Amino acid sequence: MEIYVVKVSDIREDRLNELCLLVDEEKKDKIKKFVNKKDKIRSLVAEILIRTIIIENLKINNKYIKFNKNKQGKPYLKNHLNFNFNISHSGEYVLCGIDNKDIGVDVEEIKNINIIEIAQNYFTTKEFEYIVSCDVEFQLNRFYEIWTLKESYIKCYGQGLSIPLTSFSIEVDQCKNIKVVRNNEYEEHAFKLFDIVQGYKIAVCSLNKEISNGIVMLNQNNLIDKYIKFNLEQMKG
Ligand SMILES: CC(C)(COP(=O)(O)OP(=O)(O)OC[C@H]1O[C@@H](n2cnc3c(N)ncnc32)[C@H](O)[C@@H]1OP(=O)(O)O)[C@@H](O)C(=O)NCCC(=O)NCCS
Repeated sequence: MEIYVVKVSDIREDRLNELCLLVDEEKKDKIKKFVNKKDKIRSLVAEILIRTIIIENLKINNKYIKFNKNKQGKPYLKNHLNFNFNISHSGEYVLCGIDNKDIGVDVEEIKNINIIEIAQNYFTTKEFEYIVSCDVEFQLNRFYEIWTLKESYIKCYGQGLSIPLTSFSIEVDQCKNIKVVRNNEYEEHAFKLFDIVQGYKIAVCSLNKEISNGIVMLNQNNLIDKYIKFNLEQMKG
């Protein structure tokens, strides 16, 4: 398993259009349709990130990288079912996890929202109690722990919100061990929380027992340069 994070920064309009020529038509159309430039950049950087990882790891020519989606929209790499990945973006970050088994990742920018109301409506009673049982100053952090962990679990399954948010419960014990309970049974998923980016919470859920301890932080410009270099080499060869 590897987990990657990229901090997103502005890309000039002409450069953005050029880079769109190096992704497939579907992604290009999706990027074009975003009104907000930040959405365009996040989507493009995420695509460049996963394509670069695939080129490096699987040695596939970019033009042969084809994605498909399951019924609930989870993308997967066609013809390489042992290669699993999942992407998340929020605020200024793009997150991607790869693994040989199902994986779900989530990054959320921590915002001052009405956590009590949301937790009461969308979390289980146990999750709600976990959040409110600590001092008020720590409750926002706990809320985002549960939020990202729940999201990473749903994304690992790939079933979207067809899994009701209250149909499973995340348990974080005093040693910060994390488990998920569904239908009164513990499931085998492993979880990890990361606080490596200030103001954001990151969660990873995997069907593998071990989750990487570290996250690879990539610089956006270096990533783009590497992607262009790979494409040029592959076009020549
Ligand atoms: C679509 C969903 C999978 C994630 O949505 P999100 O948190 O808004 O977005 P993220 O940035 O984390 O993830 C988006 C990426 O997940 C991937 N994805 C899409 N559908 C997916 C699915 N069914 N399962 C796993 N991954 C999926 C895609 O790569 C997508 O990137 P793209 O939009 O660039 O194609 C879905 O779980 C959802 O709508 N969640 C919101 C639920 C919610 O309200 N949670 C609150 C507290 S738990």
